[in-house]
Amino acid sequence: MHLPKAELHLHIEGTLEPELAFALAERNGVKLPHADTEELRRAYLFDDLQSFLDLYYALMAVLRTEEDFEELADAYLARAAQQGVRHAEIFFDPQAHTARGVPIATVIEGLARALDRGEERHGISTRLIMCFLRDETAESALATLADAKPHLHRIAAVGLDSAEVGHPPSKFREVYEEAAALGLRRVAHAGEEGPPAYIWEALDILGVERVDHGLRSMEDPELVERLVRDRVPLTLCPLSNVRLRTIDILEQHPLREMMAAGLLVTVNSDDPAYFGGYVGDTFHAVHEALGLDQEQLRELARNSFLAAFLDDDEERRARYLAEVDAHVF
Ligand code: ADE
Ligand code: ZN
Repeated sequence: MHLPKAELHLHIEGTLEPELAFALAERNGVKLPHADTEELRRAYLFDDLQSFLDLYYALMAVLRTEEDFEELADAYLARAAQQGVRHAEIFFDPQAHTARGVPIATVIEGLARALDRGEERHGISTRLIMCFLRDETAESALATLADAKPHLHRIAAVGLDSAEVGHPPSKFREVYEEAAALGLRRVAHAGEEGPPAYIWEALDILGVERVDHGLRSMEDPELVERLVRDRVPLTLCPLSNVRLRTIDILEQHPLREMMAAGLLVTVNSDDPAYFGGYVGDTFHAVHEALGLDQEQLRELARNSFLAAFLDDDEERRARYLAEVDAHVF
């Protein structure tokens, strides 16, 4: 769907398509446990978040050099541009790479090579969001932030991802305080599989400005009231929720109810290589499954730019919003 939009919840490692994974494996002499791309694709049947994460981290073994990260990000931007993406705020997981001996500089500078040319090559402006793995220790997150200091000019925000249940936001209070002091914006995954209490913690303890997923906020009316009052954006990922079995079928997704409740929701792809679609495909899928009409799709697109970290470039935000308003379906 070509409606102009921003993508605000996208893990760059989750854009690794099987074809690129095999090409990089060959180039880097890495042996993958799957015979070919078809066999790998057949492994994309997940029971929950953890079963997906196991494959997601294993496949990252093919990413080793700056060129690899550059190619990965450039391939994402090319696909995103075809689906109407005008602005992308992109997560990356440094600890998943440094743990394998890939320096953080390789990751960030490799991604930056592609992002720096994103506008000229693909017409997409970008921001980078550095995520901490919540199933690693708070000390490891602090060490990662310290490691990233020479590259902070490339990073807009910090985030929190990986296995949620048992790893509440409060575990990362200190590193979020430090990130804020360094001038970084703050987001966190919360309420994907975890309870509404984790969303409260993300807001009140970590001081996040956006909640990634926030799907389970609907279980807590007081929380919904708070999110509506403060206009806290939620970056929903409907196809991900189905693939990771948080909801059974897309027709049961609460997106419509969330919009009706006055929440500032956006629609995103999360890990598109694994979950069956990029963000334009996701817009199309919610249109079909939930019967959202064109004006509701336009509202989602407007929300994506309203929720974007474009405060340093309000002219650009206004331009993108005007593109949404002028779009003819
Ligand atoms: N890392 C990549 N995708 C994720 C997701 N959907 N939830 C948590 N961590 C992730
Ligand atoms: Zn995510």
